[in-house]
Amino acid sequence: MANQEVNNARFNKEAAEWDNNKKHIESTHQAFEAIQRYVPAFANSTSKTLDVLEIGSGTGLLSYTLSPHIHSLVGVDTADGMIAAFNTKLTSHSTKNLCAINHLLTNADSPELQGACAAVRGGETNPPYRFDLVVSHLTLHHIPSLPDVFRTMYECLKPGGAVALTDYEDFGREAIRFHPESKRPGVERHGIKVDEAQEVMLGTGFSEVRVERAFVLKKEVDAEEGMEELEGEMEFPFLMFYGVRN
Ligand SMILES: C[S@@+](CC[C@H](N)C(=O)[O-])C[C@H]1O[C@@H](n2cnc3c(N)ncnc32)[C@H](O)[C@@H]1O
Repeated sequence: MANQEVNNARFNKEAAEWDNNKKHIESTHQAFEAIQRYVPAFANSTSKTLDVLEIGSGTGLLSYTLSPHIHSLVGVDTADGMIAAFNTKLTSHSTKNLCAINHLLTNADSPELQGACAAVRGGETNPPYRFDLVVSHLTLHHIPSLPDVFRTMYECLKPGGAVALTDYEDFGREAIRFHPESKRPGVERHGIKVDEAQEVMLGTGFSEVRVERAFVLKKEVDAEEGMEELEGEMEFPFLMFYGVRN
């Protein structure tokens, strides 16, 4: 089975309980705080104008957190279960500026993405729709080709638009412990390497590139042969991947 199918099966199964995991809530909160620190529109009070794309929106933890602070958000995710959980929340929230679609995004002009933008932005009459900001939390490590996904994100941005993405760092062999063994099938890479991401982002054409540690998530990990013995939780550094489209 291809990694994408393994992932879809895993996330379909986990979707209903996803929001009950305190670590998912905590890391989303930290990602949101990091986004606010990096994206100037949050500091200069213009964030309400932002049209946002989220890759791997899941149940919408980050999307619903961003919702009151932005103009609109379109989420793309490849697991039906995650989209269903996202949409269930839509029915009980008064928010009207979010939507999520099951879509493997490889093209900024895809009819699925353009249709979602038209639906959520209403009234706006100048397609093709592009974005001021692309966010993505804990998803890059599931995506097979970093050059391809950064290229797609770049093409989805308006000139001057930015990516502000968060995922855990591949800081060495112990990074594999982020996932217990049962969840490792389907994971493309065990975290992201700073140098590799920087090179990919610069090669894509992003300017103002910063790939740096933004926060730390502590979580319990299983004891494993050949790995360091730990007392209590292990610390996982999370990176911010920030860059601007010219
Ligand atoms: C670890 S979960 C994170 C979900 C959410 N961002 C959060 O932090 O709660 C990874 C998500 O990425 C989605 N995903 C995996 N590969 C993807 C791809 N190529 N494009 C879009 N979403 C993808 C999965 O279905 C899953 O919802």
